[in-house]
Amino acid sequence: MVLLTEEEKRAAREAAGSAVRGFPRSRGSLVPILQKIQEKLGYVPLEAMEEVAGQLGIPPVDVYGVVTFYNQFRLTPPGRRQIKVCLGTACHMKGGTVILDCWKRRLGIEVGGVTPDREFSLERVACVGCCSMAPVTVINDEVHGRVTPTRVDGLLFSFGVKVKKGRQEEGEVN
Ligand code: FES
Repeated sequence: MVLLTEEEKRAAREAAGSAVRGFPRSRGSLVPILQKIQEKLGYVPLEAMEEVAGQLGIPPVDVYGVVTFYNQFRLTPPGRRQIKVCLGTACHMKGGTVILDCWKRRLGIEVGGVTPDREFSLERVACVGCCSMAPVTVINDEVHGRVTPTRVDGLLFSFGVKVKKGRQEEGEVN
């Protein structure tokens, strides 16, 4: 669970307020409004959902239902380093799931999660167009190919994170 600062909550309400403008006040506008919010903030916080619900005159739980139904929406803020593990066919065949599990264990988070310090977030993506380099991990916009568990450790080390074999060192990532 990621706690937002007061400033982030205010930004969330403002983003929701401006996203609603220009759309008809109806449930049919929900998805495009939520997309605009995510475009602006990188995720859809609860505060934004409440604001949208208030402005459209529908229960917040209905907005929450839409956000959680579509996996295009993030509920948590993205990390400063966004780890995207490709699980397209080529990457899957070359052990993409092993690499995904490795990132999960090292960071101590699940897909869609973010570390408590918000340094890293983890996502699973479809083919990113670099199949000859499978298995691929994209970190922010940088593509890393032929990734192995050792390479995952090396990347984390380059970010200043020390990991012990098989699990993260206490206090290093969190
Ligand atoms: S399947 Fe991963 S880059 Fe194409």
